[in-house]
Amino acid sequence: MVLKIKDNIYCMSFIEWKIREYKGLDINKGTTYNSYLILDKNNVLIDTTRMKYFDELLLYLKDIANLKLDYIISNHISLDHNECIGKLVELTGAKVITTKIGKYYLDAQFDTKDWEFVIVNNGDEINIGNRTLKFITDDKFGHVLTYCIEDEILFSNELFGQHVAYKEKIDADIGHKIILEAKEYFANILLPHKNSILKILSILKDLNLEYICPSHGVIWRKMIDEILTKYRIWSSGFHKNTAVIVYATIHYSTEKIARALGEGLADGGVNVIYHRLGTSSLNIIIRDILDAKYVLIGSPTINMNVHPKVGMLLTYIEGLKLDNKKIGVAFGSYGWKECATKKINEFFKKLGFKVVDDEILAFRFTPREDNIKKIKEFGRKLAKIEV
Ligand SMILES: Cc1cc2nc3c(=O)[nH]c(=O)nc-3n(C[C@H](O)[C@H](O)[C@H](O)COP(=O)(O)O)c2cc1C
Repeated sequence: MVLKIKDNIYCMSFIEWKIREYKGLDINKGTTYNSYLILDKNNVLIDTTRMKYFDELLLYLKDIANLKLDYIISNHISLDHNECIGKLVELTGAKVITTKIGKYYLDAQFDTKDWEFVIVNNGDEINIGNRTLKFITDDKFGHVLTYCIEDEILFSNELFGQHVAYKEKIDADIGHKIILEAKEYFANILLPHKNSILKILSILKDLNLEYICPSHGVIWRKMIDEILTKYRIWSSGFHKNTAVIVYATIHYSTEKIARALGEGLADGGVNVIYHRLGTSSLNIIIRDILDAKYVLIGSPTINMNVHPKVGMLLTYIEGLKLDNKKIGVAFGSYGWKECATKKINEFFKKLGFKVVDDEILAFRFTPREDNIKKIKEFGRKLAKIEV
């Protein structure tokens, strides 16, 4: 579908309604790839889409631009935004604008020997007729953002994106829940790049922004200040007085410990979120952990190790570069030789979390009522601990 954003500026949107797994993530609401077109003396296409949408993209380009493309900007090397670039360069002879790193990755994925590249660095500008495009990047990030100065539009590629499939294209049409979608996207995809993002945000604060147009999801217009503020908060490691309790369980003993801990923390004024692995998806768990003060992970000991689903969670968290100003608490049930809480505590230490431990947290088989009381009491004390 096509949305006219401003005179001669269009969003071409390709909606994947049914996709549920993407780049290893559970995406429960589908996704959208956005490609943008600016008509000027030189026509510019900003990012492409997946190959399966090539015919649809071509139709739009013929309709709107008579297939005259002078530049294609590759803001980010990922194939979901580049898969059509080779065919389009061949058909139109467009020059490809990207960074040095962008070219390196395009060279690796396409036969680029006949392509004409324009390599841009942070702050570079290119005039396309009545408009000037300015490029914003951080060397370590590999992405570039394109800012159209005259129209005050930022084409932000992955930044500010959301994995959603809506026919509505503007933030206000969705309402406040779009912030939560953007948070899930940030936590799972952009968090490892938070230092680069902070640098980019410091550049953005000096720009007038009428629209922010990401490569996934809806366009920001009404909620620009809010999403910029949220990005600053999420990138800077700020935490709320929230505890995320994540656990796996077979016979529900670990779940009983989880509930008792949560009730104690809630008595102490902490906002508690529970996630049972296998029921909650990893993306949502990470979204909630992002700005939580407490992370409590529970696992029964299985074959002298953690439960496999807890193992998956730990592996996933390891790559995300979570902020280390958090309190980590491990808990779990075991039968004959306890291993799970030891492994989880080692993991917390590796992340640099403040580990709070107590022998009551590793329990042989099912905790009784008197044990539950003690675990709740531990939770109440935990609520008073500072990071
Ligand atoms: C497949 C399997 C392997 C297990 N391996 C161990 C083990 O290595 N060490 C141990 O102490 N308990 C082991 N257990 C016992 C569980 O840790 C124990 O039943 C625990 O209470 C289960 O917690 P849950 O009720 O939260 O599922 C194992 C149980 C199962 C089903």
